[in-house]
Amino acid sequence: MNDYTLEVHGCHKYDATGAISEPIYLSATYRHPGYKQSTGFDYGRVANPTRKELEDVLAKLERGQRAWAVSSGMAAINMVLHLLNPGDHILLSEDLYGGTVRLVNDIYKKYGLTFDYVNTADLEATAAKIRQETKMIFIETPSNPMMLVSDIRALAALAHENGALLTVDNTFLSPHFQKPLTLGADIVVHSATKYICGHNDIIAGVIAIADADAGYGKDLELYIKSEGPNLTPIDSWLLLRSIKTLGLRVERQEKNAMKIADWLKRQPTVTDVYYVGLPDHPGHALHKSQATGFGSMISFKVKSPELAIKVLGRLKLIAFAESLGGVESLLTYPIAQTHAEMPKELLARTGLDDRLLRFSVGIEDPEDLIADLDQALNS
Ligand SMILES: Cc1ncc(COP(=O)(O)O)c(C=O)c1O
Repeated sequence: MNDYTLEVHGCHKYDATGAISEPIYLSATYRHPGYKQSTGFDYGRVANPTRKELEDVLAKLERGQRAWAVSSGMAAINMVLHLLNPGDHILLSEDLYGGTVRLVNDIYKKYGLTFDYVNTADLEATAAKIRQETKMIFIETPSNPMMLVSDIRALAALAHENGALLTVDNTFLSPHFQKPLTLGADIVVHSATKYICGHNDIIAGVIAIADADAGYGKDLELYIKSEGPNLTPIDSWLLLRSIKTLGLRVERQEKNAMKIADWLKRQPTVTDVYYVGLPDHPGHALHKSQATGFGSMISFKVKSPELAIKVLGRLKLIAFAESLGGVESLLTYPIAQTHAEMPKELLARTGLDDRLLRFSVGIEDPEDLIADLDQALNS
């Protein structure tokens, strides 16, 4: 089934009422027809019909065998990091969501996990960091917030040659534009709070996997059932509703982003524009070979840190807020928000500084967005 059709119809089967919209099953437990008999649903932490519909749609969209919907993107990443044992080594993109860095550095380190951050857009540098104990490579592509593009196919091959798994945080593109499992990745995670939700109204996460029978698939099933990070039925329904317009939203956002990136490039107050849709972006060709769209995340540097702070205060239509992916445009100041706790050494390596702003482009009229940026940057 084509993605647009899948997004609208999912796996929905009509019940006796003929309801077009998937029902919300608010039941914590389920009546058994008899001893050793089950309807397929026994207890809400383990499975809920509304959440199951969502998980089936997400697995199909990512072309995986199984998906789980959990309470946040961080809960999804946390479950995936559970796959590692004390002494194991993980290689992570050095340009990464700050919350992922905090989880690894401040929590997993104390359980004996060892790790290195590397520019995963540089294959040789990544290969050089592999050790016998390396059990996972964890990447974002495009990365957050510097928009580096990593080669999913090559990194999957590198991971597998060394007996490791490749996990891709696919938040920035959504499954509508990029399907890492079809390129060799084993695990995909999302902050579904972002494009999958698309309305800045719920916090949610997704894990999708290539092989449900593999050891990692069985382990994830065990961890999620045992620890209970699952998404509520109401939030599951909200995500199902959001997914119906996923393609329409992200394509409109991408169109807007292209216009805005092009406009930003021509502003004397802007020194650098990082958007994978620009033909002169160093990862443009690679990105095109592994994704069907460029998304709508643009980072840019202004002339001075003072101007960056002024811009945040002058915005009228675009909100100065942390997050991304929604229909409303948001401007984020990564150094003070999403990446505030990032170690200084990583900031220096990636070039994330106090002149960098990150723009999540929404679905508004692009001329209205440009007018707001113009008065904020150039007045
Ligand atoms: C790329 C990326 N991954 C993961 C997360 C964490 O997701 P959540 O905030 O839903 O826990 C975020 C949040 O901003 C993110 O941008």
